[in-house]
Amino acid sequence: MNEVEVALGDRSYSVHIGPGARSLLPGIIAGLGARRAAVVSARPTGWLPDLGVPSLELPFRDGESDKRLTQVERLCRRFARFGLTRSDVVVSCGGGTTTDVAGLAAALYHRGVPVVHLPTSLLAQVDASVGGKTAVNLPEGKNLVGAFWQPSAVLCDTDFLDTLPRREWLNGYGEIARCHFIGAGDLRGLPALDQIVASVTLKASLVSADEHDRGLRHLLNYGHTLGHALERATDFSLRHGEAVGIGTVFAGRLAGALGRIGQARVDEHGEVVAGYGLATTIPAGLDPARLVELMRSDKKALHGLSFVLDGPQGPELVEVPESVVLDTLAQT
Ligand code: GLY
Repeated sequence: MNEVEVALGDRSYSVHIGPGARSLLPGIIAGLGARRAAVVSARPTGWLPDLGVPSLELPFRDGESDKRLTQVERLCRRFARFGLTRSDVVVSCGGGTTTDVAGLAAALYHRGVPVVHLPTSLLAQVDASVGGKTAVNLPEGKNLVGAFWQPSAVLCDTDFLDTLPRREWLNGYGEIARCHFIGAGDLRGLPALDQIVASVTLKASLVSADEHDRGLRHLLNYGHTLGHALERATDFSLRHGEAVGIGTVFAGRLAGALGRIGQARVDEHGEVVAGYGLATTIPAGLDPARLVELMRSDKKALHGLSFVLDGPQGPELVEVPESVVLDTLAQT
């Protein structure tokens, strides 16, 4: 079993990665001293071992449409009726939307109860479940209401991945592809387990250095400025990782247009993203002006249009003139 530490002082925790990682859950619950567990699960809980404490199963549905405040309230009310105390534990089991919503409910209920994540999608294993970001969407934007709430442990059980359809793999590959440009090196062709370990190791180092996303952690948003806009412009028919893949190619082109990197490195963006089987171009029919408007409302955009871009000193957050964005959109 691989173990990656997210070093955060007395809130440090381990991410366990490998087949059968879910078997560690009863020991982790016992170690927390929890007497009850509320299990928010998008998977049949027959997958889980006996937790060793009385548990309440709360079925959840993965997907952006349930990433809403009303779901947080629903879960917290069920926690209350079950008698969950702040010394007990919430367990989340599902994709990134499930770990995000259950994580936010855990952050808010009794002003914070321990949470253990069991991410079941590649996307959630390589990114969403690690680092303590929890959030729900508003009609006005994605992830606009949330909290930093670090889990007590993350169990990335690779057995869960065996049943994933092709598009779910692509969804995770988008995040793995962007790791190529923010310090993970070339992960193409490696076994999935090694790709997950490398992505989580990179993320753990950035989260340890900048838990609250004030600087270095922004690097994880490589490809995400356009990515988030594409998700919203397509009403989420483009999956997060698919959109991040296109956003990563765009970030390479933008860095090239600004003279920050040479053509070979621009081309590398397209090759890496295509190498994971992902699309590299913006779907036809999307209005560039609308994409710019959506990118302006990105949380990282303090004044205008902000992108994490590669450059001579490595990737950094850069404000980009609208005219350059529009010209580059026309070529992507
Ligand atoms: N998914 C980006 C972050 O956790 O900061």
